[in-house]
Amino acid sequence: MIVVEGLKKRYPGASHSQRAVDDLSFTVQEGEFYTLLGPSGCGKTTTLKCVAGLERADGGRISLGDTVVVSDQVFVPTHRRDIGMVFQNYAVWPHMNVYDNVAFPLQVGARRESKTSQRDKVMNALELVDLGGLEKRMSTELSGGQQQRLSLARALVREPRVLLLDEPLSNLDAKLRESMRTELSLIQRRLGITALFVTHDQSEALAMSDRIAVMRDGSIVQEGTPREIYHEPADEFVASFVGSTNLFHGEVGASAGEGHVLVETPFGRVACATDPRVDLAGPVAVTVRPEDVVIHEERPADAHEGRMNTFHGVLEIGQFTGASVQYRVTLASGEHLTALSGSREDLPSGARVVVELPVDACRVIRRARPAADSSDERDASPAGVVA
Ligand SMILES: Nc1ncnc2c1ncn2[C@@H]1O[C@H](COP(=O)(O)OP(=O)(O)OP(=O)(O)O)[C@@H](O)[C@H]1O
Ligand SMILES: [Mg+2]
Repeated sequence: MIVVEGLKKRYPGASHSQRAVDDLSFTVQEGEFYTLLGPSGCGKTTTLKCVAGLERADGGRISLGDTVVVSDQVFVPTHRRDIGMVFQNYAVWPHMNVYDNVAFPLQVGARRESKTSQRDKVMNALELVDLGGLEKRMSTELSGGQQQRLSLARALVREPRVLLLDEPLSNLDAKLRESMRTELSLIQRRLGITALFVTHDQSEALAMSDRIAVMRDGSIVQEGTPREIYHEPADEFVASFVGSTNLFHGEVGASAGEGHVLVETPFGRVACATDPRVDLAGPVAVTVRPEDVVIHEERPADAHEGRMNTFHGVLEIGQFTGASVQYRVTLASGEHLTALSGSREDLPSGARVVVELPVDACRVIRRARPAADSSDERDASPAGVVA
């Protein structure tokens, strides 16, 4: 288990308001795969380095299992923490062969092992990451994916209780990244190891995590399972950062019955599911995922009378992506919507259509506060489609 409480870190030179990590708290349960997800510069690596002991926090407390490793009085150095680490740039030692790379952690520090025990552990770790038989190969003669697996074997060889992973897959090409994603998840589950994973890649986070903490400006905006984060985003920032969505600003008008309200948007009135976290008195946003938008080929208008959330529009373009087609629809009001449909359908560009936004797929969410520094982050756009 990893417990982080009230973690604070400001780098020298940063102003008082520019904390890299600002009063951050979270708990990773035993055997859990927990991900810190957020845009560049939000403090993910800094948090991980504090857990690893590679940075000193300005305040807060960190425990690994029953051991407090960081507090006002305590600082346990990295090599005494029961952790394995994997970083983006593999960091395998080029002058060593595969065997020696993995054996290295067993040859340093207080816990030195006998040669036989070392050999068993190295061979086990190499089998685990599917590099058995390559132990004499120089590490530089491995492919990117193999080097990444080598660094994973090295992180696991001391059988740590906690595995820390900082964007470990981002140097790999798309295909390899996907297969390593699955392998890494399988290995983590097989070992039951507690994993703290850092990424800015939302699809990686959704695919691999038991729980995700979405971070922004050194704080956690929302914590939840991948499904909660995707289907019940806490605000506009989370809705647009995790997945693609259609986002519109509006004001809540009347109630539309139990758990639903009518929101006045730039293209008309939209019936939406409410969320207890949202103050309905103020300005709100509406989010609806592209895969939930339904496109009807134009039929006589009376076919849609009484149906909620239907809007006339023109299908501007459809882009075939293999598994689906992504359509851009311009509504009569001039607003744009993105819709995804099955790739066997084929609607012609320029077609007049009726789009339906199913009521329970439309969610009222909080508007995002402006970013502290939006220069290098993918920010929530004020309205419209966020890809
Ligand atoms: N050694 C350092 N000295 C000064 N400022 C730093 C240092 N390392 C990071 N920062 C700053 O602290 C903030 C958080 O950085 P951090 O590396 O934790 O972000 P990150 O979420 O890991 O981003 P990325 O996705 O780009 O890796 C950023 O504003 C960054 O510029
Ligand atoms: Mg980082």
